[in-house]
Amino acid sequence: MEEPSGILIKGGKVVNEDCSAISDVYIENGKIVEVGLNLQIPKRVRVIDATDKLVIPGGIDTHTHMELAFMGTRAVDDFHIGTKAALAGGTTMILDFVIPQKGKSLLEAHDRWRETADPKVCCDYSLHVAVTWWSDKVKKEMETLAREKGVNSFKMFMAYKDVFMLQDSELYAAFAQCKEVGAIAQVHAENGDLIAEGAKKMLSMGITGPEGHELCRPEEVEAEATQRAITIAHAVNCPLYVVHVMSKSAAKVVSNARRDGRVVFGEPIAAGLGTDGTHYWHKDWAHAAGFVMGPPLRPDPSTPGYLMDLLANDDLSVTGTDNCTFSVCQKALGKDDFTKIPNGVNGVEDRMSVIWEKGVHSGKMDENRFVAVTSSNAAKIFNFYPQKGRIAKNSDADVVIWDPRMTRKISAKTHHQAVDYNIFEGMECHGVPFITISRGKVVYEDGQLKVSPGHGQFIHRKPFSEFVYKRIKQREQVRKPTAVTRKPYEGKVISV
Ligand code: URP
Ligand code: ZN
Ligand code: ZN
Ligand code: ZN
Repeated sequence: MEEPSGILIKGGKVVNEDCSAISDVYIENGKIVEVGLNLQIPKRVRVIDATDKLVIPGGIDTHTHMELAFMGTRAVDDFHIGTKAALAGGTTMILDFVIPQKGKSLLEAHDRWRETADPKVCCDYSLHVAVTWWSDKVKKEMETLAREKGVNSFKMFMAYKDVFMLQDSELYAAFAQCKEVGAIAQVHAENGDLIAEGAKKMLSMGITGPEGHELCRPEEVEAEATQRAITIAHAVNCPLYVVHVMSKSAAKVVSNARRDGRVVFGEPIAAGLGTDGTHYWHKDWAHAAGFVMGPPLRPDPSTPGYLMDLLANDDLSVTGTDNCTFSVCQKALGKDDFTKIPNGVNGVEDRMSVIWEKGVHSGKMDENRFVAVTSSNAAKIFNFYPQKGRIAKNSDADVVIWDPRMTRKISAKTHHQAVDYNIFEGMECHGVPFITISRGKVVYEDGQLKVSPGHGQFIHRKPFSEFVYKRIKQREQVRKPTAVTRKPYEGKVISV
């Protein structure tokens, strides 16, 4: 039988970031055509009963590294498996990173990443590009990427010394160019020099296990870099986005900066909101190594709750996962030396449920804030709102029918990811996707994925996102330093 041309979602509670209302939603040709009460659709359509369920914009994961070649190996979740897993968890778009080697062309790396991802992706995606070195060519390529390639965000590393790390003067230049081309500067905020010294110290003390990964880079190493990045961004009036905010100290720095009027956004990730760094001290090496990522999870067990409070109250803005998965045998590259454990954890499949459980079910945030931090704010910051991030007429039909009461237990035995363990193993979550719709097609239903590689599309993002740049542009106008008009000094000048 022919597939019906449209989908009518009936009787659900439509939840956007600013309001909720019982409404029907009609979808056709990949778009939301109508939202309203008792929609009468004349044609033959598929009707989905969403009574007692929420109809929310598909999740947007702001931070993934599918199949990234990193630390001597390659992440096991590729664009195919990783985006399928995303859909199973209610995420309908990811933003992945192009990370060129030092000295290599950003444009070529970008084009190669597009060629890799395009035929494999099962959900829509877009790309941030990392600036790992500095030159006039890099500067020019940033402009081309922003003007022609749909990239409006660039990530700069303050860590990974000698690999990706930039010096402060290079950060200054890169941030200034971001401002020039209308992009948002993203930072991996950790002091790379201190990490290198700390790692040597731990190894010399005989600390070779995963606990050394956290001990060599405590919270202040993250907080210092976060503050430095904010200071440099402010010096050039560039908007800043701090990726993977992992500690209370760094989160406080972001929060204070926002209160001081800085245009800065903080991104906690599912791992940091759902678990903590006590695992690094686990007696089983493989268990402990599974949590190694940079910046590390923090051993203070009150950290996840604190980050969630800040997320609920808009001190932090948006959530990603930093999904960068290495199976246990890959992590084992660092079995005798924690500095060699490939950095990265899972999250792309579980982010939505973890945030619902720890954020909404716990009473810290409401359903509208949930939509803001899992979807709408990402679309606003990265400039594709309301194409995505909203249930509204003409928006893309990336829609999740969310069951807030249903529960599921997270486990590597049942997850759709390629990685052979799960950092949230055993966590019971309220809040489960009942149906996921991507580009107007039901792609996940009854626990089954029905999607093929290449179903997803690249989302082209324009520069100068209004959400980010309105204040920046106005400040540029009114806060220009001006010289004082004076009569020339006509007195004596010493000779030298
Ligand atoms: O541990 C991490 N975060 N791995 C991915 C690379 C990065 O810094 O985001
Ligand atoms: Zn990073
Ligand atoms: Zn553990
Ligand atoms: Zn990352």
